[in-house]
Amino acid sequence: MKYFTRNYTYNKYDYDMSMSREELEHLLAEKKRRDLSYSRILSSMCTYPHEVAVYAHKLFIESNLGDSGLFQGTKEMEDEVIRTIGGLLGDENAYGYITTGGTESNIQAIRAVRNRKRKEGLRVSDMNIIVPETAHFSFDKIADILGIEVRKAGLDQQLRVNPDSVQEFMDDGTICLVGIAGTTEFGQVDPIRELAEIAKEKNVFLHVDAAFGGFVIPFLPDRARYEFDFSLEGVSSISIDPHKMGMSTIPAGCLLFREESYLEELAVPTPYLTTKEQYSLTGTRSGASAAATFAVLKYLGSEGMKSIVDECMRLTRFLVDGAREMGIEPVIEPVMNVVTLQLGDADRIASALRAKGWEVSTTRSPKSLRLVIMPHVTEDMLRRFMEDLSEVVN
Ligand SMILES: Cc1ncc(COP(=O)(O)O)c(C=O)c1O
Repeated sequence: MKYFTRNYTYNKYDYDMSMSREELEHLLAEKKRRDLSYSRILSSMCTYPHEVAVYAHKLFIESNLGDSGLFQGTKEMEDEVIRTIGGLLGDENAYGYITTGGTESNIQAIRAVRNRKRKEGLRVSDMNIIVPETAHFSFDKIADILGIEVRKAGLDQQLRVNPDSVQEFMDDGTICLVGIAGTTEFGQVDPIRELAEIAKEKNVFLHVDAAFGGFVIPFLPDRARYEFDFSLEGVSSISIDPHKMGMSTIPAGCLLFREESYLEELAVPTPYLTTKEQYSLTGTRSGASAAATFAVLKYLGSEGMKSIVDECMRLTRFLVDGAREMGIEPVIEPVMNVVTLQLGDADRIASALRAKGWEVSTTRSPKSLRLVIMPHVTEDMLRRFMEDLSEVVN
């Protein structure tokens, strides 16, 4: 049982001493106490996974989708998740896989287009993509990893990307446009229909980053106002994250393409595995979080997901109303469960709130206090938060 004996010195750390199970549990409990509890977190786009997600995750803990022939039950669940999420996003015949999250999905979507365009003879150094100024920082990683230029288009008054600005940035090297359905900082939805029309007219790939909003918008009462998915002809691919509003376990993202040929652009041969090729970015891949995603979707169904979104939106309005009573206005009227409050000295207020035990964040431009009303947030939590907010602003 003891892998590391007292005589075994691996390096200067503690591996030279083994621990009893009891000591280990004690140590783990101590580390767990140092983690924050979500009951004080208003800055994260993650939350407690649903109880059925945890159950499924544990049941499939050893499953590796990187060698899916060995784990056929898990692979069947992944395939069903892809069909279900595809259906939720307007195309149940979409092609894709469960990624590690929004970053991998975004990287892989752009990599697929880059590979296609490279085959068609365009030099990578001549390629560019156009993203909104509000794009998640995963697009900065994309510029670095894929070696293509990332151009940032301007916004309108409501912090949505301005289609005219997108068009101004386009040239012969533009291989992809990106629209965001649920911006990280403001929860805003870009005019995806207009981007889809530009993409169609100019024959350019359009990727929609719905990492956050993908599990929110379809359940909003006014969802028809926010067209963003495959029901728009020009939309080529979508990122959507089960480990955010999908209440699955981490890591669970999802990348979908309308056309199978783009998924194939990502394939590399895998000679010694049970499958012939692999299109994921990582090799070994969590089957547990795929099972967790499958479990949540099956168990909650769209009614269950809708009631979670309904409650998050009720609390979002509760917070905005409370802030207005204090004379504080939101930067935009919330579209989804992200509230940004206009406060001249947002950084000072965020620090004062942190001193009172609240984890909050601030936006870059315009500067504001940012609060994400995830499923772990309760009315009681918001009441206590608002009491503290009113103390620190006065
Ligand atoms: C819109 C958007 N895209 C992508 C990401 C990156 O997702 P992940 O952190 O799961 O890689 C985020 C994360 O917050 C996001 O909000």
